[in-house]
Amino acid sequence: MHKFPLAVIGAGVMGRAHIERILKTPEFALVGVAEPGDVGRQWCAERHIPTFENHAALLAATRPQGVVIATPNATHVAVAADCMASGLAVLIEKPVTDTLAAAERLIQLEKDTGVPVLVGHHRRQNPILQKARQIVEEGRLGQVVSANVMANFYKPDAYFDVAWRRQVGGGPVLINLIHDIDMLVYLLGDVRAVQGSQSNAVRGFEVEDTASALFEFACGTQAVMTVSDTAVSPWCWDLCAGEQSQYPRQNVQSHFLSGTQGALSLPDLALWHYPGERHWHHALTREQSNLHEIDVYVQQLRHFRAVAERRETPICSALDGWRTLQATQAWLQAARSGQRQTCPTFSASGKHT
Ligand SMILES: NC(=O)c1ccc[n+]([C@@H]2O[C@H](COP(=O)([O-])OP(=O)(O)OC[C@H]3O[C@@H](n4cnc5c(N)ncnc54)[C@H](O)[C@@H]3O)[C@@H](O)[C@H]2O)c1
Repeated sequence: MHKFPLAVIGAGVMGRAHIERILKTPEFALVGVAEPGDVGRQWCAERHIPTFENHAALLAATRPQGVVIATPNATHVAVAADCMASGLAVLIEKPVTDTLAAAERLIQLEKDTGVPVLVGHHRRQNPILQKARQIVEEGRLGQVVSANVMANFYKPDAYFDVAWRRQVGGGPVLINLIHDIDMLVYLLGDVRAVQGSQSNAVRGFEVEDTASALFEFACGTQAVMTVSDTAVSPWCWDLCAGEQSQYPRQNVQSHFLSGTQGALSLPDLALWHYPGERHWHHALTREQSNLHEIDVYVQQLRHFRAVAERRETPICSALDGWRTLQATQAWLQAARSGQRQTCPTFSASGKHT
């Protein structure tokens, strides 16, 4: 297999995570990086990576077949539009962008150019989540009636030295919980309505430090989620799924689905059901799936290559990114207003409420 040439736009925290994986994975070649900042440029120079001031210069000088966009959210669509105009498939970091209107523009661009978009909701690449989706689709839980999700962890004070992390939009709902919302959207489909509540009682910043939500899915599932970045707790996907080495792994679970025929916990993929008659006085049996572990970000790059080569369809399309963003924003709106928010659905022919 020939090396697939990739470019990266934005060499911040996430861009560097992608670059490191591109460099260590033989099937990829890194043709260059666009980064205006001194820190990112220096980091690239130390690794002898060709660096460009902006993405226009990068695209003019190199010949990638796919571009990874890891710039701030508000820039995603403008940068993607230029790449797509050159026929280049894009892997856009999550969230797809900062507004639903911009995400809708991206969906239109995808239609107009025929160039595929993959959104970096990387947990979808995890075989654990794919197996969970298979279990749900096969009906092994029956009708999924409830989901309980915990995303509770502790960020050190220094994390908040950066001003935007103390302001609305920089909190754990949009930064962290959006991953958990995307997991449920992947497993259960569209969200119909949201109620939410939030608190800044511990840190006292403008932004929430703790929040809770009730999501009503179109399939009927009621999902309760909590998130806190000020909780000393192992109960969150990052700490128990083992996706990234900087999070010491804990042998606990964070996601729980309950259905009319069975129940499933994640990430351990324990499946509970009654061998005979369903009755709360009877013993439940526990079935265990064991999966090999992978680097989900490398897996995402491999999938991106297949998407760019039109061998696979994106596991998270621009429309999927829109769905997760609108559910997340609906929660923020519900928490601010104290009112239940209904969510529009978006189809190829447009938006419906
Ligand atoms: N998938 C994940 O787990 C994950 C984790 C963290 C961040 N992210 C996402 O990755 C993206 C970047 O986040 P980050 O934490 O790396 O931010 P960051 O601030 O560390 O990095 C962003 C970089 O982009 C550069 N930049 C800004 N505008 C640019 C432009 N027009 N062209 C080229 N470079 C530009 C900045 O100089 C900076 O170096 C965001 O969308 C974020 O939500 C995803």
